[in-house]
Amino acid sequence: MTCLYRRKVHHLPKETKDYEKYFQPPSLTDAKKRGKEDIQVHYDFDIPEEMRAFGHDKYYLIQTYGCQMNEHDTETIMGLLEQMGYKPTEDRRLADVILLNTCAVRENAEDKVFGELGHLKHLKAEKPSLVLGVCGCMSQEEAVVNRILKKHPFVDLIFGTHNIHRLPFLLKEAYFSKEIVIEVWSKEGDIVENLPKKREGIKAWVNIMYGCDKFCTYCIVPYTRGKERSRKPQDVLAEVRDLARQGYQEIMLLGQNVNAYGKDFEDSDYRFGDLMNDISKIDIPRVRFTTSHPRDFDDHLIEVLAKRGNLVEQIHLPVQSGSNEILKRMSRKYTREHYLELVAKIKEAIPDVSLTTDIIVGFPGETEEQFEETLALVKEVKYDSAYTFIYSPREGTPAADMTDDVPMEVKKNRLYRLNDVLGQFSKESNDKMKGQLLDVLVEGESKNNADVLAGRTRTNKLVHLTGPKDLIGKIVPVQITDAQTWYIKGEWVSAAVAK
Ligand code: 5AD
Ligand code: SF4
Repeated sequence: MTCLYRRKVHHLPKETKDYEKYFQPPSLTDAKKRGKEDIQVHYDFDIPEEMRAFGHDKYYLIQTYGCQMNEHDTETIMGLLEQMGYKPTEDRRLADVILLNTCAVRENAEDKVFGELGHLKHLKAEKPSLVLGVCGCMSQEEAVVNRILKKHPFVDLIFGTHNIHRLPFLLKEAYFSKEIVIEVWSKEGDIVENLPKKREGIKAWVNIMYGCDKFCTYCIVPYTRGKERSRKPQDVLAEVRDLARQGYQEIMLLGQNVNAYGKDFEDSDYRFGDLMNDISKIDIPRVRFTTSHPRDFDDHLIEVLAKRGNLVEQIHLPVQSGSNEILKRMSRKYTREHYLELVAKIKEAIPDVSLTTDIIVGFPGETEEQFEETLALVKEVKYDSAYTFIYSPREGTPAADMTDDVPMEVKKNRLYRLNDVLGQFSKESNDKMKGQLLDVLVEGESKNNADVLAGRTRTNKLVHLTGPKDLIGKIVPVQITDAQTWYIKGEWVSAAVAK
């Protein structure tokens, strides 16, 4: 592929104190720049012949943190490793390669990784041949890479989110080098197709676009994942068709901002609504997407989703705050009124839609009144569920320079109050399902009780049901008998036709 940015593999003598002499760390400032370069799509990826047996008789273990994008990247990393002959293991002592695929979105995600590195230090001391690597969003952060170099010099390999396809080469370097191998490109505008993926189960993730250009002031993602770039429609559609042929029951389309899909196409006005329309014609039972941005949710998309079919009645629509002042300072580029208008339009087109959201409490300067505006919005929309977070300052983002003046106790109390209201609405909406006969995709045994099966409705509600194990992997009719706050209970009705 063409060499646009810094792409040298750095070898640093381990334990070195003056590493700045050798190594220029990834830069958030560089990552922020959005150039005009063309997006190159590469179809020629292959693992070189001499590396196909490199992992023969060796084992790998990957620990994944964070979002579904990261989970899906792990599937790619597993695919690459298995094409090199590596086998998976859950046993750390057996592993020859351990990779931490990290998340940078909040501080506690980073703390977990640093804690884990502390544990792995002992393992590395016992087994020096172990290759220990850090990848994912944290490795895109300058401060993190520097901290690893200073405090965790036993790490062998660091590679960034733009460098996954380079793993075979980097691993080889890491094995033969006595030095730490680092390859983190701050910017990358390319898309690499044809990477192997190891998928498991009956649901499959499909990337439709990468990166984010929104730059919400609290968020590190535009820096760690690079600029928005969409896969070509024909590549996405071919992948979905292939998954349909393989018998997958559900596809989750992934992107930081799926409804910005296509905005980067120079010679075409094919957008997310068009893609959903084309995917709706493919014979796969359920199609979802995550995550969408209210600003890019256009009427055509609503029109396409309203046709239903395999496009399910569930939309994740992050609001973040119900206060116009906070939304402005978050740079979300919509108002509370615009968001509520959009919700009204969606509900009019799809009356039984299940809406879910993301909310941040305790953004710098958030007053009690502003938080109450969020509570009021939640009550108005009546979300089925939400991911709720306490604001976490991320170095290098604009919000990190704002005065974070809401005391932690107040933030925790707001989170508690918010979750309490969300719990009430979740229970209310679950109660409404009692007595209904619904299609449930049975995913497996329930986590806490192997005699109970767990599945999901089209609206993604968790269902615990009774029925034989051979229902796993199928969409079956279930009579809903009871509702809890976060799940519903039901019984499989053989020979019934559900809706
Ligand atoms: N602090 C707290 N929550 C955050 N999110 C993103 N950045 C931060 C941050 N700095 C949340 C947003 C986003 C979700 C994936 O994570 O709600 O939608
Ligand atoms: Fe982060 Fe905002 Fe982009 Fe979502 S839209 S990934 S919150 S910058």
